[in-house]
Amino acid sequence: MRLSPEGLIVVLTGAGISAESGLRTFRDQDGLWYEFRIEEVATPEAFARDPAKVLDFYNQRRRGLLAPEVRPNAAHLALARLERSWPGGVLVVTQNVDDLHERAGSRRVLHMHGELLKARCLACGAVCEWRRDLDLESRCPACGTVGRMRPHIVWFGEIPFHLEDIEEALARCTLFVAVGTSAEVYPAAGFVDRVKALGRACTVELNLEPSAKSHCFDDRRYGPATRVVPAFVEELLAEIGGSREQQGSAVRDRRSRGPDR
Ligand code: APR
Repeated sequence: MRLSPEGLIVVLTGAGISAESGLRTFRDQDGLWYEFRIEEVATPEAFARDPAKVLDFYNQRRRGLLAPEVRPNAAHLALARLERSWPGGVLVVTQNVDDLHERAGSRRVLHMHGELLKARCLACGAVCEWRRDLDLESRCPACGTVGRMRPHIVWFGEIPFHLEDIEEALARCTLFVAVGTSAEVYPAAGFVDRVKALGRACTVELNLEPSAKSHCFDDRRYGPATRVVPAFVEELLAEIGGSREQQGSAVRDRRSRGPDR
């Protein structure tokens, strides 16, 4: 795959990239949607009908994310390395609500489905960092209103965040990579179609198994993300003569040797 190092890389990630960090996916055998019903815990109607049940669902997931054994894995770390090393820039568009990309060192991350470690006030609209349980007595740190805090998560039937920025990046990128997503939920599942319609970019799927959109991709690599993603990143960086880090050290070596004889 001949890529210009000046081209933007957009990486769409799903629950599969965090599976080996110990966070459950949604549609695999032990997935969350086999234990919980979406219409009872992940819709605005569910929150209006039984807010305590919805808050408890996200409290359990937040506690799980904050468990000491849950850490970024080799796939998250490889994407952060790619961002540090790729001249054209890397944008991670994630469907995940965990913070493992950020903890791995990725700085350009768009959470299109929201973030588990944030809460939003329905009274004033403020979005606040939130690392403890949310309940019906929770007070908004911005306006002080009690009992009007909700998870800063995009529920089914709500509009995902950052769609304009994502569309602009899809139109500009020269490589689109999907990692660890079943491609069952739109609009994320349709991003590969948008990229192909614009005709500029190579498209690659890195997944445990073929997704619902695997036929749309130019290239596919299957296996656990902690193996497949680092290998793909190494391949990309080898194409441009190693990472900027390595290129930088090569320049330093040449300088320390002095002018070639
Ligand atoms: N390595 C790579 N891929 C994996 C791994 C792994 N270790 N484990 C699972 N996968 C793959 C599965 O094969 C599947 O294709 O990750 C994908 C997970 O699919 P889903 O559980 O459907 O998760 P996701 O695609 O992120 O769901 C999208 O749906 O319910 C909503 O808001 C929720 O953001 C979520 C969206």
